[in-house]
Amino acid sequence: MSSEVQSHIPTNGCIVELGLGPGYLAEHLLNLLPGVHYCGIDFSRPMLDLARHRLRAHAPRVAYLQADLVQDNWRRGVPTPVHAIVSTWTLHDLGSRKHVSAVYGTCARILQDGGLFLNGDFIKPELATHEYEPGRFEITTHVQLLRRVGFRDAHCLAVLENELESPTAAQNYACFKGLAQRPA
Ligand SMILES: C[S@@+](CC[C@H](N)C(=O)[O-])C[C@H]1O[C@@H](n2cnc3c(N)ncnc32)[C@H](O)[C@@H]1O
Repeated sequence: MSSEVQSHIPTNGCIVELGLGPGYLAEHLLNLLPGVHYCGIDFSRPMLDLARHRLRAHAPRVAYLQADLVQDNWRRGVPTPVHAIVSTWTLHDLGSRKHVSAVYGTCARILQDGGLFLNGDFIKPELATHEYEPGRFEITTHVQLLRRVGFRDAHCLAVLENELESPTAAQNYACFKGLAQRPA
């Protein structure tokens, strides 16, 4: 994800993160890219407070937005233009394809033309017999949803910790990429 972000956004570009959590990914990207601005979204005030503490050295470059990604209006406080939207370990929490698809669609509209979308999250393996949470689904479904909302070059970048037989909740993880395109 780091190298994708690094090669796609301008030096002083803007990154939005869906599900900022305690700010691990944000800290990594802010250290890596000293000119970027960052907007972290989370519906949890305690998580936003943890992130604010972790990211205090980067304070002038970080905005915090308390919003629920399941609500249609979450994009209201997002700055523009946005060059990249990233997320890790969050969107499965939305609990359904419908919600993930709606968030993918909003991201496709928020991003500037050519903007980068990256989602690293828990998935359901294609041949799974194991019962998974409803917010986890197959790689092919993620890619289809990304294409359907208009992302080009939508594909799976990596599959990690593939475990079919007896997975823990933290196994079966994948990262998806798409590039925003404005209709001609
Ligand atoms: C595992 S954490 C993300 C960790 C983060 N990517 C990092 O690197 O530190 C998942 C976050 O998603 C947030 N979240 C879950 N559902 C959400 C929703 N519907 N709207 C906004 N945030 C949500 C949770 O509050 C939690 O902070």
